[in-house]
Amino acid sequence: MQSKRVVVLTGAGISAESGIRTFRDNDGLWEEHRIEDVATPEGWRENPQLVWNFYQARRRQMLEVEPNPAHFALAEFENALQYFTLITQNVDDLHERAGSSKVLHMHGNLKTLRCEQSGRSELRMSDEDLRPQFVKCTCCAEPSTLRPDIVWFGETPIHMREIYTALEECEVFIVIGSSGHVYPASGMVNIAKMIGARTILVNLEEPLNAYDFDEIHYGKAGELLPKLVQGWLNES
Ligand code: OAD
Repeated sequence: MQSKRVVVLTGAGISAESGIRTFRDNDGLWEEHRIEDVATPEGWRENPQLVWNFYQARRRQMLEVEPNPAHFALAEFENALQYFTLITQNVDDLHERAGSSKVLHMHGNLKTLRCEQSGRSELRMSDEDLRPQFVKCTCCAEPSTLRPDIVWFGETPIHMREIYTALEECEVFIVIGSSGHVYPASGMVNIAKMIGARTILVNLEEPLNAYDFDEIHYGKAGELLPKLVQGWLNES
């Protein structure tokens, strides 16, 4: 696989073994919170404190967790390949901390906050930035409130031009730890298939779009991926 153009898409499942809860598993975040309340622009308008508390808890948790063997395996994969694109639906920074050099975070980032006036994102992870109180931007003459730098339902995912360019050229498309519920990420496998790429899935359970994959490996990403990556690199 070393000379192939490889695109990898990760979802919440890859960070599960690091201790970050997924969304749709039995103990997932959407069991306790309604998407409408904490992951939509309407939710933010109606109850900003609830939304703020939800993401502040996740931002604080990010400082306590560590990348797992699946994140490290992908960083190694990238190092060994000439053409490699890593797309993630995740908002944590575990890929970067494992050594991945370029990560397309299509659903935003927990580390940054976004000014509602200017649209600019700022890295805000100091102790003061992680409290229950709202924080203000540094970009406007009259500082305005910052919102979580997350792509909520009803908003447009980011880096899509770069993502589709990579997808349209890919020869191998690998999805790891995603339930296939959320579009456009869930539809990327169709694009890859349409252009004749080999499509591979690594997931704990059967996702909604399982039938689109040529090859499926069920199990925990942290256990499976290190061996799978070695195997892929040894393929001619
Ligand atoms: P989900 O929570 O929907 O799905 C996680 C998937 O990971 C499930 O199919 C699990 O079976 C699988 N899984 C769990 N543990 C695993 C492990 N150790 N190894 C491998 N797989 C494992 O998460 P996503 O598909 O990423 O969006 O969710 C997509 C989007 O929905 C998220 O980015 C988020 C959410 O609403 C926003 O917040 C905008």
